[in-house]
Amino acid sequence: MKNNFLIVFIFSFLIFFNTSTSFALSPKYQPLDLKPLPYGYDALEPFIDKETMQLHHDKHYKTYLDKFNDAIKDYPDLYSSNIYDLLACLDCLPSEVSKVIKNNGGGVYNHEFFFDIMTPDKTNLDGELEKAIIRDFGSFDNFKDSFKKAGLGIFGSGWAWLVSDESGNLSITTTSNQDSTITLNLKPIIGLDVWEHAYYLKYRNNRSSYIDNWFNVVNWNKAKENYKNALK
Ligand SMILES: [Fe+2]
Repeated sequence: MKNNFLIVFIFSFLIFFNTSTSFALSPKYQPLDLKPLPYGYDALEPFIDKETMQLHHDKHYKTYLDKFNDAIKDYPDLYSSNIYDLLACLDCLPSEVSKVIKNNGGGVYNHEFFFDIMTPDKTNLDGELEKAIIRDFGSFDNFKDSFKKAGLGIFGSGWAWLVSDESGNLSITTTSNQDSTITLNLKPIIGLDVWEHAYYLKYRNNRSSYIDNWFNVVNWNKAKENYKNALK
């Protein structure tokens, strides 16, 4: 009788301990917050108009964020990770959420990157990034021409990127839809959204003019910081 009581006591203790431990270790679901624009909606006028920025940030970016949050809420192992890590290895994800994270996690990451790579302030390209651009493209004008050509060449919706590999070599690449360069193991330095929602209200079908004017608001300070981080 005494032994039976002891066994029941130990068994109950183990159940309690396991339950308490799993509660303690379960990551709490914390949906990502909408990141505010680092400037006013109209701050990039006349190059990017206020209405486009409002819709782009408050509707398009928010939709990606909401869908991403909804997709991962049932996956505790995922919501303890950050988006960068999830996009870096889509094949590591459960197959039933891989595509939705690719599309909407990519949409969140790309848009937060895009809003940060623009500024109403005057910034200059210099230092190591300028040297690397001249080294890998011959001149800044050559780089700009190639970047524009890449942006114009995207069929449908997508992004044009200046990217760095782990050794600091620069190249221009494009991605379709909301695919991320992180999945390709390439670090984005600057990135241009060429979905029509990014420019159609002001530029209509003139993507060429949009790209030309976008270069007036590129945040080269942020680009230099991105390049520095890519080399770490
Ligand atoms: Fe966009």
